[in-house]
Amino acid sequence: MKPINFFLVKPSPLTIFIIILIFSILGFYSLHYPNPSSFSQNTLHFQNLFLSSSSNSTLSTYLRALTVHPHLAGTKLAADTTTYVADHFRSHGLTTHTVDYNVLLSYPVYSSIAAHFSSGSVRHLLLTEPDRFDVVKPYHAYSPSGSVFARVVFVNYGRERDYHALEKLGVAVSGCIVVVRKGSGGGLGRGAVVEKAEEKGAIAVLIYNNDDGGDYTWREGFERGHVMRGGVGDPLSPGWAGVEGSERLGLEDSEVLKKFPKIPSLPLSFEVAETILSSLEGTSVPLEWRGTLGSKVRNVGPGPTMLNFTYQGENKMATIQNVFAVIKGSEEPDRYVLLGNHRDAWTYGAVDPSSGTAALLDIARRYSILLSSGWTPRRTIILCSWDAEEFGMIGSTEWVEQNLVNLGSKAVAYLNVDCAVQGPGFFVGSTPQLDSLVVEVTKKVKDPDTEGASVYKNWAAAGGDSNIQRLSRVDSDFAPFVQHAGVPSIDMYYGKEFPVYHTAFDSYDWMTQYGDPFFHRHAAVAGIWGLLALHLADDSILPFDYVPYANQLQFYMNILSSLLDQQTSLHPLNMSIQEFASAAKETNNESKKLRLQETSGHSVDIKNRALNDRLMLAEKGFLDADGLQGRQWFKHLVFGPPSDHESKLDFFPGIADSISRSTGMSERERLAAIQHEVWRVSRSIQRAASALRGEFT
Ligand SMILES: *[C@@H]1O[C@H](CO)[C@@H](O)[C@H](O)[C@H]1NC(C)=O
Ligand SMILES: *[C@@H]1O[C@H](CO)[C@@H](O)[C@H](O)[C@H]1NC(C)=O
Ligand SMILES: *[C@@H]1O[C@H](CO)[C@@H](O)[C@H](O)[C@H]1NC(C)=O
Ligand SMILES: *[C@@H]1O[C@H](CO)[C@@H](O)[C@H](O)[C@H]1NC(C)=O
Repeated sequence: MKPINFFLVKPSPLTIFIIILIFSILGFYSLHYPNPSSFSQNTLHFQNLFLSSSSNSTLSTYLRALTVHPHLAGTKLAADTTTYVADHFRSHGLTTHTVDYNVLLSYPVYSSIAAHFSSGSVRHLLLTEPDRFDVVKPYHAYSPSGSVFARVVFVNYGRERDYHALEKLGVAVSGCIVVVRKGSGGGLGRGAVVEKAEEKGAIAVLIYNNDDGGDYTWREGFERGHVMRGGVGDPLSPGWAGVEGSERLGLEDSEVLKKFPKIPSLPLSFEVAETILSSLEGTSVPLEWRGTLGSKVRNVGPGPTMLNFTYQGENKMATIQNVFAVIKGSEEPDRYVLLGNHRDAWTYGAVDPSSGTAALLDIARRYSILLSSGWTPRRTIILCSWDAEEFGMIGSTEWVEQNLVNLGSKAVAYLNVDCAVQGPGFFVGSTPQLDSLVVEVTKKVKDPDTEGASVYKNWAAAGGDSNIQRLSRVDSDFAPFVQHAGVPSIDMYYGKEFPVYHTAFDSYDWMTQYGDPFFHRHAAVAGIWGLLALHLADDSILPFDYVPYANQLQFYMNILSSLLDQQTSLHPLNMSIQEFASAAKETNNESKKLRLQETSGHSVDIKNRALNDRLMLAEKGFLDADGLQGRQWFKHLVFGPPSDHESKLDFFPGIADSISRSTGMSERERLAAIQHEVWRVSRSIQRAASALRGEFT
């Protein structure tokens, strides 16, 4: 065909417009994307396709289907949910498989509480939500069975300082049943509450949630949950996978026994708790407890109200199932980006965790659209649907334990979503080398609550990256990835908390009335989650930046320095952080240089791969083969839970433990123990620095 000569044909206004448009688009790209290697035209095209395939109606359909019935781990109905998720992945053309484990779960058999009031009247207390007969009765998984008849004491949040306040008033809890509140006002996790009560000599524990979210109905809800100690993985296969036929500890093994409380406990509804508490006499409630307590609770007891408490539970072996959908990478199939969410729920689990499951299913749908328009990711993407998280992250932990070497050497990152939507406002936690990526990605996703804004805009107004949480907690499936395997990770959600947590009211209706009426927040989480994974899977140079990690470590050191007396030297820590900071800066320069070379058309694949491996493996430097003292499973020396639940430090768990363990030691021993832990952390930071540099000494 004869080429058209533009100079001979008088261009129409439309042609001129199109030419101007093309040049302005090109100009825009050259201005805004100086590193087209990691945002190559092609990659950008698929990212835009991903973003434009967002749909709130599919999300609502998935959530509706997932919440039709309860799906407690190990039950028949949970197996139906497993099938639903696996069928969904398959129907979207994804390679799907399930992996089973045989683990110790725990269920209620019988519970009753009768209140014997001083008037002589006896009242049988309601121990479940009214009209919700298909959900499991409220209980604490792994609570021992027991019957007690005793006086009641109210112990506020059940912290050391609360018992101390009672002691000062002459109130002892020994031999009593304690009632504890939980809520946003502060306080401990469920397991920690029971542990502390046991230590103080209580013989049974009742825990209620003090937050009614402003709605009286929720006061009838009971917060289910587990009370296992250490709280990670199958108690009978600590450190290895509980597959059919594997080694298993006996129920009477001391390792197993120390994970379970010795005193029984049950949840109460706010309403039932008030019935008991308002009948107490004796010492009046300390002033500093009163703020959010409500006027009905005037005295802490003990008694005169007595409770006849019985709980009978059953710990038994059950089969749990993780479901995986794998999208194989084209160029680096042996590098993995993992997106994970748990599937099991205490009740209908609309928020916890089905909002996250709906988002995962929608990402599968959207990725399948990309696949059918020609996309194959550079690296392998795996969608993971975990079982039995509510019993202590069992499904994810068993899998991490079983795949430890492959994960440690090949997993680029783990992206966790548990409750995707609890209410308004974006929240995120990450290992710090992923902070910059979170910022970039939130700029590209629409804010669900403000027309025309990005998620980043509102998040930044609320503090943005200065509010990124760190992953030291053990309350979702990122824990084994970060704290045991050292995989760079992210965890995110909308809404700070929600009043129907772990109750029978966590239903589709609650979500559509309160949590996310139009499913726009679900869409925002799915958008951020899926786009993070696209970057991690497709960017030729991994979008990791270790400078924020160095800054975070520096910040931790400063806190530590203000907390410790001069006798502990932080010099080794200071030195290793400075070394890590310069390694981080050098690495960023190297990334930049490689991106430029790639732009100019040089083939740098092997160099990219070498740099990427260092970026991926540096996190492993923070792991220590010996783990935390007395809690070997926890290998990460920067992020992990301190064993003292009331510790001021939520980082450097080994140092935190050495500070709180000091009682019963001489001053010299105490200082030596702290100094040793400071050295261990310093060495781990050095290891991370040399992994980042990739050179031998
Ligand atoms: C406590 O309740 C149990 C039934 O749950 C009953 O057998 C027992 O007699 C009661 N004890 C007292 C002192 O009322
Ligand atoms: C999806 O969003 C639109 C626009 O806000 C809204 O009208 C519609 O009701 C939403 N769909 C669902 C299922 O919530
Ligand atoms: C760390 O070292 C720098 C100088 O190298 C010093 O200014 C700073 O005070 C030190 N910080 C601590 C906590 O020791
Ligand atoms: C990184 O590059 C900048 C500018 O090219 C340079 O000034 C700086 O010294 C480099 N930093 C390191 C740690 O290599």
